Amino acid sequence: MKYAIVTGGTRGIGKEICRKLLMQGFSVISVYDNDDVSAQLTRQEFETEFRSLFYLIKCDLSNTDNILFLLSEVKLITESVDVLILNAGKTIRKGLVDMTIEEWESVMAVNITTPLFLIQRFLPLMLRGSNIIFTGSSMAVFPHSVSLSYGISKSAVHAMVKNLVKFLVPFEIRINCVAPGFVDTEWQKDKSPEVRESIMKKISLKHFAKPEEVASVYLFIIDNQYLNGEIITIDGGYSYQ
Ligand SMILES: NC(=O)c1ccc[n+]([C@@H]2O[C@H](COP(=O)([O-])OP(=O)(O)OC[C@H]3O[C@@H](n4cnc5c(N)ncnc54)[C@H](OP(=O)(O)O)[C@@H]3O)[C@@H](O)[C@H]2O)c1
Repeated sequence: MKYAIVTGGTRGIGKEICRKLLMQGFSVISVYDNDDVSAQLTRQEFETEFRSLFYLIKCDLSNTDNILFLLSEVKLITESVDVLILNAGKTIRKGLVDMTIEEWESVMAVNITTPLFLIQRFLPLMLRGSNIIFTGSSMAVFPHSVSLSYGISKSAVHAMVKNLVKFLVPFEIRINCVAPGFVDTEWQKDKSPEVRESIMKKISLKHFAKPEEVASVYLFIIDNQYLNGEIITIDGGYSYQ
């Protein structure tokens, strides 16, 4: 049995990654924070659709003390992991003037610190030939105009992926990153029609990505054994206008 862990795997991009992994016969362990309703609906949907196993673990990744809790919960399910997808992300829409240290630290915890130490703690479980895939963002490349902490944290995610390649060589683990542009998930739903319109003008394909379009890139990375240390952008041609 092949096991995949997907953080943020109950909604949005993560949910569609789980669906594609289940279609490939993986057992999937999905980690979420507090939206129990979405988590249970996702479980019901997958349990009727697939015969592969789908597990839920509720764990707030903004608290680094929860890293060992998550490890112990995963070990109750499996002693080996084939795919670790570090997809959960956090943003706080504040800039230089109004952001607090606590807000900065909570974004960094979810987006960088916890994922890094999850990798460290999960290494003994990860099989040779296994995969780690982060969700980065095109906002790592185009400076963010609203959330300073988010833009910097996603730049750090891209840098972390590049830096970890050499450290993972002895373990024969590949590490890559998918960097989406704008994706139609809850994440984007609070943007006004005017803001969405102005973003779409900068996307050459003139619309946001569907979560499943982004999710298929993770499966491509798992399948292609020669991809390592890559940041794969999927943004519909953002800013080619
Ligand atoms: N949507 C976009 O346009 C876009 C663009 C570029 C990059 N991204 C990146 O893509 C990733 C997924 O985004 P999305 O749009 O799919 O988001 P989403 O639809 O809001 O889903 C977020 C998922 O992450 C989980 N999560 C959030 N905070 C968590 C925490 N502290 N601990 C554990 N789980 C947590 C959520 O659990 P709950 O439901 O329990 O909260 C949910 O399962 C993020 O890293 C984001 O930065 C998104």
